[in-house]
Amino acid sequence: MTSSYAQDGLEGRAAVVTGGTRGIGRAVAERLAAAGARVCVTARDAQEVRRTAAELDGVGVSGDVGDPDHLRDVVDTAVRAFGRLDVVVNNAATNQPYGPLMDADPEAWRAAFAVNVEAPLRLVQNAWRAWMREHGGSVVNICTEGAGHAGPNVGAYGTSKAALLHLTRQLAGELAPRVRVNSVSPGLVRTEMARFVWEPEEARVAAGLPLGRIGEPDDIARAVVWLASDAAEWITGADLLVDGGTRVRTAHSAREYAVHDMLRSYAPPRS
Ligand SMILES: NC(=O)c1ccc[n+]([C@@H]2O[C@H](COP(=O)([O-])OP(=O)(O)OC[C@H]3O[C@@H](n4cnc5c(N)ncnc54)[C@H](OP(=O)(O)O)[C@@H]3O)[C@@H](O)[C@H]2O)c1
Repeated sequence: MTSSYAQDGLEGRAAVVTGGTRGIGRAVAERLAAAGARVCVTARDAQEVRRTAAELDGVGVSGDVGDPDHLRDVVDTAVRAFGRLDVVVNNAATNQPYGPLMDADPEAWRAAFAVNVEAPLRLVQNAWRAWMREHGGSVVNICTEGAGHAGPNVGAYGTSKAALLHLTRQLAGELAPRVRVNSVSPGLVRTEMARFVWEPEEARVAAGLPLGRIGEPDDIARAVVWLASDAAEWITGADLLVDGGTRVRTAHSAREYAVHDMLRSYAPPRS
């Protein structure tokens, strides 16, 4: 893959991408590597981490982002391997506990916040102390278009992602001018996490979107890598919506929102 981002300062830089073995995280890691960055990927499946790291000529650390020790290990490994850490992409997330909030188990709720909100903060703290406080850097958090409104059965996910959106703005203010902190909010993207939403009736879901199709991981990766690069050097605290027009669909067509029908009818497998 050729990249036009190389000239925007990613060549020779070092990046961590959590959840970098598949889906959006994998596409981001590939684009960063293609732009000349060294990449450290994480995920729970150790075999997938090893395979991805080898394919991208990078390094990998397996573990759960909900574990603070793992997040220390990630930053230590990246800095040891690359001698620097310029970019952090907080991508790993959970969409559990799924269902009405009145049924939400307290442990599962806490686990969702540990993975979706606390882990991004801990990882940025570690990166700040190890490299970014002195040398600067850039953080991109992956939120969701769905955090902008209520939706069926996704209360824990939406609430935690709305918290991540606020965390993004707060960190952007606190860490400027050395470190830029932004987020990307995807609409529905063709990945494992969202398979239960797009697979049953993809044509119907796509027809309801102004741009006529669901997203591909690379649609999101291009936005993430642009925000991480020096091309976005005067942007911090921003949320970039990459949703095929989902947010503006009511001005485009009178169709009902098929995504909410899917969320009512199907549930994700527990991971
Ligand atoms: N797909 C969409 O429609 C959509 C829409 C809006 C926002 N997003 C957001 O986009 C991001 C990526 O999602 P995706 O759709 O690309 O998901 P995906 O294809 O299921 O990939 C998730 C990645 O994260 C890893 N992961 C999951 N839980 C983890 C944990 N606790 N600790 C460490 N790694 C973990 C997975 O590997 P292991 O299973 O091996 O850990 C995998 O590498 C998430 O933040 C998600 O909320 C997705």
